[in-house]
Amino acid sequence: MRILVTGGTGYIGSTAVEILRNKGYEISILDDCSTGHADCVPTGVRFIQGSLLNRSDIAAALQDTDAVMHFAGKSLVGESVEKPDLYHSVNVNGTRNLLDEMKIASVTKIVFSSSAATYGEPDVIPIPESASTNPTNPYGATKLGIDSMISRESKEQGISAVSLRYFNVAGALKSDRGWLAERHNPETHLIPNVLRSTQANPVKIFGNDWPTADGTCIRDYVHVIDLIDAHIKALESLAEGIHEIYNLGSGDGYSVRQVVAAASLAIGHEVPTIDSPRRAGDPAILIADINKAKVQLGWVPTRRINEMVADTLASFA
Ligand code: UFG
Repeated sequence: MRILVTGGTGYIGSTAVEILRNKGYEISILDDCSTGHADCVPTGVRFIQGSLLNRSDIAAALQDTDAVMHFAGKSLVGESVEKPDLYHSVNVNGTRNLLDEMKIASVTKIVFSSSAATYGEPDVIPIPESASTNPTNPYGATKLGIDSMISRESKEQGISAVSLRYFNVAGALKSDRGWLAERHNPETHLIPNVLRSTQANPVKIFGNDWPTADGTCIRDYVHVIDLIDAHIKALESLAEGIHEIYNLGSGDGYSVRQVVAAASLAIGHEVPTIDSPRRAGDPAILIADINKAKVQLGWVPTRRINEMVADTLASFA
């Protein structure tokens, strides 16, 4: 079975490529490398360096494909507030092109990387898939728009689809080519920033007055290996004319200070921090209700925050 992995040179996409390959799937990658890294591509994998905004690139990438895992897209909340048109163009128009080319190529299966950002400020914690969707930033709005587009496509064209709503993805995977890990520039995510913190440049804690036990935001961190395991289960569960949505998190919340404590333990000394103002667009608490994925996909995340921190730290070496 050949899978087209869009965004297969990015952090999560490259991890998917590695795990899928080890399971015996054939892989094609479509990536413009705007945020990914071509050096992640394993030898023997078909790689089309191209864009979702160029339909002939998509058509080339779809050759001989049985299913698509669609990771490609812009994914920074802050950047999306500054550049909403860019997010709409790449994420929404890019996915529209992908779905249109899939139709031409008679590819009817897709697993899509959606986001917890589709929910916005949650009115219930933990957040089930049935929660209301009121994204608070353009990034979340594009992911919600794509989920709706895929739902429509599934009803009208009969495609088999799953949207996976990620909470906070963390950790890394060691491959025979070295660690596949977060290599964002600039890095905005908490765990790598905490692990790179120094006395001269301490990690900023965005807000200490949130309505939580220690005053810092709570997030639900899921290891990238567990996340890809859910993708494979989702792929195997695809059913004609059905679009399912699943939350992917661990089902547990950790505050920013708890993540700092886990990192301090891993490093062996206190991570320097500096209290800073709240970051625009941050909700106080995001925790996933993952029961649907557990029951319907038989998925159980097994890696805890300490392992996510340890793997990220090891990837820096
Ligand atoms: N944080 C800090 N200091 C930092 C970085 C982050 O205090 O240097 C805090 C943030 O304010 C937030 C928490 O740590 O409270 C996690 O922040 P991240 O930037 O690591 O992740 P986000 O929760 O902002 O966003 C991530 C993904 C989104 C996704 C969201 C869903 O990047 O794509 O999780 O939960 F939508």
